[in-house]
Amino acid sequence: MEPGKSNGVAIVTGAASGIGCSVAHALGSAGHSVAIVDINGDGAASAAETIGRETGATTCWQSVDVADREACSGAYRQILETLGKPGILVNNAGIMVRRKGRLEDIPPEDLDEMIAIHVGGTLNWSRLVIPDMRQAGFGRIINLSSCNAVTAVPYRIGYVTAKKAIRGVTEALALETARAGITVNAVAPGYILTDELKRRSEAGFLDFDSIAERTPVGRWGRPEEIADTISFLASENAAYITGATLVIDGGFTIRADPGEDLATFAE
Ligand SMILES: NC(=O)c1ccc[n+]([C@@H]2O[C@H](COP(=O)([O-])OP(=O)(O)OC[C@H]3O[C@@H](n4cnc5c(N)ncnc54)[C@H](O)[C@@H]3O)[C@@H](O)[C@H]2O)c1
Repeated sequence: MEPGKSNGVAIVTGAASGIGCSVAHALGSAGHSVAIVDINGDGAASAAETIGRETGATTCWQSVDVADREACSGAYRQILETLGKPGILVNNAGIMVRRKGRLEDIPPEDLDEMIAIHVGGTLNWSRLVIPDMRQAGFGRIINLSSCNAVTAVPYRIGYVTAKKAIRGVTEALALETARAGITVNAVAPGYILTDELKRRSEAGFLDFDSIAERTPVGRWGRPEEIADTISFLASENAAYITGATLVIDGGFTIRADPGEDLATFAE
């Protein structure tokens, strides 16, 4: 590979569904070969087949828990054999808040799992790819944080902690790798309407209408809108962006509540 050039191989974790699947699709459409890594093997196989068929990209899949370091090493070896060394890694695998509550009422295992998957998974896959990216003189790592990296939401301490930590991982790794042609960035989505969040909102865990109303642009985001941004960050053109956490939330995070009734001014 020419230094500073992408070799066209991308790994996307958590790509069996939701945002990750859209990211894998976008990278496939942009001409990359894509490895789909997910704990859901059937979903990963099906996403790999669909993305290959729809985009013409070479795809492969690995069924693995990103929190399991050994299993990730094995999966990475398989990907190297099938597709070759990656120029792009998207650390997207994640779980939603299982139950809201005060720290003292949440089972400690829930919090451990949240950190192990989001933060541990991001570190595990970054540790695997960075030596190969250093050797190639090119790399793009994009981590999925959340608008909770910028603000905080009460009674979801595990998720908030994990997503803020991902911002820290992103900045520290960006500094470690900047001279090696590797960029490390995070995206921080607001409310993005995946199948899982549709189900959660139907189950009453989230209030669909009030989230749309609270969002300045007046709607939920679409997975493809996150995928398009990630696709740009993964490109050679994004070489001067590193260590950034890019909020993509329709203005949700910047909106403060002044506690006044401003309805008369609304459009
Ligand atoms: N949807 C949103 O509104 C939103 C907002 C902010 C941040 N995010 C983040 O974006 C990422 C993707 O979220 P999504 O909404 O697409 O979720 P999703 O549930 O639709 O998809 C997550 C995928 O990750 C996989 N996964 C879960 N645990 C795993 C593990 N241990 N190992 C490997 N794979 C695992 C799941 O099987 C699934 O395919 C997550 O990191 C999430 O925290 C989502």
